Amino acid sequence: MKKILTFVTLAALAAAAQAQTVTSPDGQVKLDFTLTPSGQPQYEMSYKGKEVIKPSRLGFELMKGKALKDGFKVSGIDTLTFDETWTPVWGEENAIRNHYKEMRVNLEQPETGRKMSIAFRLFNDGMGFRYEFPMQKKLAHFTISDELTEFAVPGNPTAYWIPGDWDTQEYDYTKSRLSEIPSLMDEAYTHHNKWQSFAGPRTIQTALQLKSDDGLYVNLHEAALINYPCMHLDLVGDTAFVLKANLAADPAGMKANMQAPCTTPWRTVIVSDDARDILASRITYNLNDPCKIEDTSWIKPCKYVGVWWEMITGKSKWSYTNDLPDTHIDKVDWTKVKPHGRHGATTANTKRYIDFAAEHGFDAVLVEGWNIGWEDWSNRFKDEVFDFVTPYPDFDLPYLRDYAKSKGVKLIMHHETSSSVRNYERRLDQAYQFMKDNGYDAVKSGYVGNIIPRGNNHFSQWLVNHYQYCVEKAADYKIMVNAHEAVRPTGIARTWPNLIANESARGTEYQAFGGSKPSHCTILPFTRQIGGPMDYTPGIFENDVEKINPKKKSWVNSTIPQQLSLYLTMYSPLQMAADFPEHYAKYMDAFQFIKDVAVDWDKSWYLEAEPMEYVTVARKAKGEDRWFVGSTNGYDPRTSEVKLSFLPKGKYKATIYRDGENAHYKTNPHDYVIETRTVTPSTKLKIKTAAGGGYAISIVPIQ
Ligand code: NOJ
Ligand code: CA
Repeated sequence: MKKILTFVTLAALAAAAQAQTVTSPDGQVKLDFTLTPSGQPQYEMSYKGKEVIKPSRLGFELMKGKALKDGFKVSGIDTLTFDETWTPVWGEENAIRNHYKEMRVNLEQPETGRKMSIAFRLFNDGMGFRYEFPMQKKLAHFTISDELTEFAVPGNPTAYWIPGDWDTQEYDYTKSRLSEIPSLMDEAYTHHNKWQSFAGPRTIQTALQLKSDDGLYVNLHEAALINYPCMHLDLVGDTAFVLKANLAADPAGMKANMQAPCTTPWRTVIVSDDARDILASRITYNLNDPCKIEDTSWIKPCKYVGVWWEMITGKSKWSYTNDLPDTHIDKVDWTKVKPHGRHGATTANTKRYIDFAAEHGFDAVLVEGWNIGWEDWSNRFKDEVFDFVTPYPDFDLPYLRDYAKSKGVKLIMHHETSSSVRNYERRLDQAYQFMKDNGYDAVKSGYVGNIIPRGNNHFSQWLVNHYQYCVEKAADYKIMVNAHEAVRPTGIARTWPNLIANESARGTEYQAFGGSKPSHCTILPFTRQIGGPMDYTPGIFENDVEKINPKKKSWVNSTIPQQLSLYLTMYSPLQMAADFPEHYAKYMDAFQFIKDVAVDWDKSWYLEAEPMEYVTVARKAKGEDRWFVGSTNGYDPRTSEVKLSFLPKGKYKATIYRDGENAHYKTNPHDYVIETRTVTPSTKLKIKTAAGGGYAISIVPIQ
């Protein structure tokens, strides 16, 4: 580990109006900070001499008192160079370099005597900046009513976006010019959730991927979202394209309650003229604090199956009964409750999944619908509906616990909170203790529906704090968390690596809710995954949902090789094989890839990438001489051309799982070919990928 720290403080700057400049270590990324004549802070940014962000303002409106937006003077500048290499607990590589130059501009507002600093960190692949409020008498507790941060982008770039929504991120992406966003908003907003909340006619979400006409890829997101609301972006201005921070509000319409000393999350701008660099960037993790968990030996990447897809497709149900309880959840006599006969999480069905997991080498089985509450989960007693510790009468937890253990398989706990957040917090210690007592070390949690107490949004400061509280408390219990519907990740897994994954985007479940675009998984790596791994739950081999449930017409828009490719391109230390054992039984040759693929990596090489078109990545399994390549293709068929020069010298056997000649995500998703060939580091592969297709390769040395 190498660390170089240098501090320079320039006190009492004479020429405050003059630009203060900092560059990335390689000099390619440049940031200028200025105060306008009215003392308003602003910044601009360039990459290889090209404008990335035009002069853009910074600051805040406050609920009370003078805004923190103008009347500032620069009281000093601190600079620093930092270089370290850290070891993630799990990840796409086993070492991450964190190399940046920092400039902290210390501001004072003479009229109020208040102080605020803005820290800029310049990396070779972009930058992050945040606001810092030092301890001070004149600004101790304060409420932010609006963050004024802007990103003014040159031209009218192509944007890959989902509509703003303070409650859900589960949208399909639209590709358009920034200027077209308002007119496409209605269509983009089409969504089935009753609990969506439209954030504005010109509001979009981060991570936002942009591409300029001269080929610059610019990615806007945030890092270290702690004790602050999540940021969306408002498109302001009609001709100049200015994206302004839009923070999820609390029930009173306020944004953030602050207590100095404190900081905001980092606002990040990743930039390159090569799309692959956006995927390889580690700015988001680097802007988070180092790991706060001392002993991380219990945090383990994992491949799992589960009693899940059958409820998503409607083949079976989470609930045990159709009858609504006539009393409080804690008082129901479950022996008297009439079952409807379609419950998924029965002892026998769970045992079937445990056997399947054991036979095929999976680490764990997720079981949803094991616990009481589902019959009423969005209804009358919602604020009390789940207790997280009482199994339904047909789920023999002690038996299954012991059976799973005897088979060397872990059970994954499920806590659907139905967004009744206070109920969950009240019961959390008991719920985590129950897990420990029964040998569970990972939980999938969920926040479906409007947040209770009502009026709160999924991505407001209070909820951001709730998700964080659960992750930190879980760490105390040595529990790994995979939170669905929680706020999108912002690299916090560096600090809390027990946050093993999130959903926080449109997952595979939507393939059963009407389908997602065949290009969906070629944009998620550029957007949702900038902040951390997604529990996308791939591996669906039966495309026709109607065959499973005649009442549900939906189609999984993907070929089988594309499903296989997702284990590489949709990076996560937690990967599910989401389909039914009986569907895998029909395609055991293709299923072999899911059995073989690793979930933790020494190194990754992004070989090809273009947002919403294709992503190809090669990865080396952690501590093993096994390599895997995945290529996910979007709508247009293409030929992927990759060199295997990432392999060390030697001869290898490559098993290629690719689309057949007539493959197509809609008309022919099962047309796949499996072939083996001998390869070396000088091998160049040319592989055709179909519409909604892809390929996957596993590579092992020939002894
Ligand atoms: C939504 C989650 O994304 C899904 O995976 C889960 O099965 C349901 N909620 C029920 O908790
Ligand atoms: Ca979901």
